[in-house]
Amino acid sequence: MAKTQISLTLNGKEIEALVEPRTLLIHFLRDELKVTGPHIGCETTHCGACTVDLDGKSVKSCTVFAVQADGADVLTIEGMAQADGTLHPLQQAFREHHGLQCGFCTPGMITRAYRLLKENPNPTEEEIRMGISGNLCRCTGYQNIVKAISAAAAEMAGGEMKEAAE
Ligand code: FES
Ligand code: FES
Repeated sequence: MAKTQISLTLNGKEIEALVEPRTLLIHFLRDELKVTGPHIGCETTHCGACTVDLDGKSVKSCTVFAVQADGADVLTIEGMAQADGTLHPLQQAFREHHGLQCGFCTPGMITRAYRLLKENPNPTEEEIRMGISGNLCRCTGYQNIVKAISAAAAEMAGGEMKEAAE
């Protein structure tokens, strides 16, 4: 099948590639770029394991063609930590509050939580639960995921207040 040239920014890095128009973004990321943080669960838009951030929106990358990411800015879990390895506050909070067990949902869950906190930096518990309702977790019962997102929100708000005071 004829391939289409696309270029995008992935986790801050410029990428150029030739893709078949039928290739899904999740397959492009995992199989061609070897970016395997986003997982494949259902491939039918239900589970959220494949969630990535695309141009400031959470998307399920099993439901987006790679060609639709042409010109886009894409963030996956691989792009969350700083270059020196310092974890993003969400990653740190998931670790500290036991927001994961098997970890299968975690990359998608954290990527979704990242956008949720951009949209609403100080969410209530109900807003967090609603915000992650498109991401399924089979292990945790969600309690510690909600705690972790809430703790990360507080941590990030504290950081911003500190920056503002400096
Ligand atoms: S693999 Fe994409 S939503 Fe489940
Ligand atoms: S930690 Fe196992 S599915 Fe969420």
